[in-house]
Amino acid sequence: MASLQYLLFLLFFAVVVPVSKDTSTLQYLTIFNQRTPFVPIRVVVDLGGRYLWVDCERDYVSSTYHPARCGSAQCSPAGANECGDCFDGPRPRCNNNTCVVEPGNTVTNTAGPGEVAQDVVSLQSTNGRNPGRVVTVPRFLFACAPTSLLQGLANGVVGMAGFGRHRIGLPSQFSAAFSFRRKFSICLSSANGVIFFGDGPYVFLPGVDALESLTFTPLFINPISTAPSFPLGEPSAEYFIGVKSIKVNEKPVSLNTTLLSINSEGVGGTKISIVNPYTTLEASIFKAVTEAFINKAAARNITRVAGTRLGAAVPSIDLVLQNENTFWRIFGANSMVKVSREVTCLGFVNGGSNPQTSIVIGGYQLEDTFLQFDLATSRLGFSSTLLGRQTTCANFNFTSNA
Ligand SMILES: *[C@@H]1O[C@H](CO)[C@@H](O)[C@H](O)[C@H]1NC(C)=O
Ligand SMILES: *[C@@H]1O[C@H](CO)[C@@H](O)[C@H](O)[C@H]1NC(C)=O
Ligand SMILES: *[C@@H]1O[C@H](CO)[C@@H](O)[C@H](O)[C@H]1NC(C)=O
Ligand SMILES: *[C@@H]1O[C@H](CO)[C@@H](O)[C@H](O)[C@H]1NC(C)=O
Repeated sequence: MASLQYLLFLLFFAVVVPVSKDTSTLQYLTIFNQRTPFVPIRVVVDLGGRYLWVDCERDYVSSTYHPARCGSAQCSPAGANECGDCFDGPRPRCNNNTCVVEPGNTVTNTAGPGEVAQDVVSLQSTNGRNPGRVVTVPRFLFACAPTSLLQGLANGVVGMAGFGRHRIGLPSQFSAAFSFRRKFSICLSSANGVIFFGDGPYVFLPGVDALESLTFTPLFINPISTAPSFPLGEPSAEYFIGVKSIKVNEKPVSLNTTLLSINSEGVGGTKISIVNPYTTLEASIFKAVTEAFINKAAARNITRVAGTRLGAAVPSIDLVLQNENTFWRIFGANSMVKVSREVTCLGFVNGGSNPQTSIVIGGYQLEDTFLQFDLATSRLGFSSTLLGRQTTCANFNFTSNA
């Protein structure tokens, strides 16, 4: 019986963490345990970030902290090519002969030196319906950063968790530690959502498995890093998708399609980034989409209040992907932001005329949408809004059945 339970545990194994939205910064935060004794650490979720970094200058106390010595097996996956010394230690972030990286704060686009280190991390396993028993990764690799790197992040946060395509990104380290496929799923909410590492099911009350309604599109790699600071030649760890055109109310909007692909300097294309609270469009794309939207809305007799402020039942916006039949449809719940009882605004931002990336799909447009990033097959699975299936991203049952 015990071994059957163990087998079932292996078959349905994934790990789960909560994700909440900070109402003042609009950043999405997660929490899990690190260090000995365990401390719950709250960090900003950075979908395209390279790895976990935490502030080690303030209150980092742990008996299981291990700095990575220069030339050790931990330095190269971390992308470290510098070696550091520190004379008034030893303590976390102050050790001799340790490898050093440049973790980045992608909200403020700044970077600072960080000691590569390992420490224990713990989180909850799941059968896809409830959290289960606690599992640990004894030597989870991360960067030990200066307190100053926290500037611009939500109150109470001690760092950023990088979910990007990097050898020591969270998805890679968890899949190596628990022997599951390199995939993770994220379901953001205006309040409390959920993130899974590993395979489904992914069940939301009253029993909706988000896996059953996914559309798939290839993920692309931008050969040029988009991080605030990076070793020469490192590709971007961010997730790019291939938007080929945009439709408003099912009618194509005329765009400069050169902007939709990534050029040899790494400029252009479409990425998903939840450190951007709203979707950001290059200036000419922004103008074309908002004009089409206003015209279609006017045709439906929706009163334009000011700028792009519109009523509620609004035209759909489709991001058309690898073919005409594969598109990401953004409905009013994800396009319109309520600013007062009478006024809602189109939740898209003008990204100016020369942004590095032409379309950045931001957090608000992803809420109540289930996204599965499969790094092994370079494929993104996305659902239409879960509201259409009578559930939301806030409906994972976080009551443990361990
Ligand atoms: C690093 O090495 C220097 C010189 O050998 C020594 O004075 C210092 O105490 C060492 N620092 C640590 C943190 O071990
Ligand atoms: C389209 O965008 C590219 C890249 O920014 C630019 O070089 C080109 O001039 C644009 N074409 C038109 C017709 O505006
Ligand atoms: C919009 O309003 C005009 C004038 O009030 C009316 O003739 C038209 O039928 C309305 N259109 C729709 C789509 O409701
Ligand atoms: C949530 O899960 C717990 C533990 O399995 C269960 O007792 C409870 O009924 C579930 N809640 C709902 C609303 O189904």
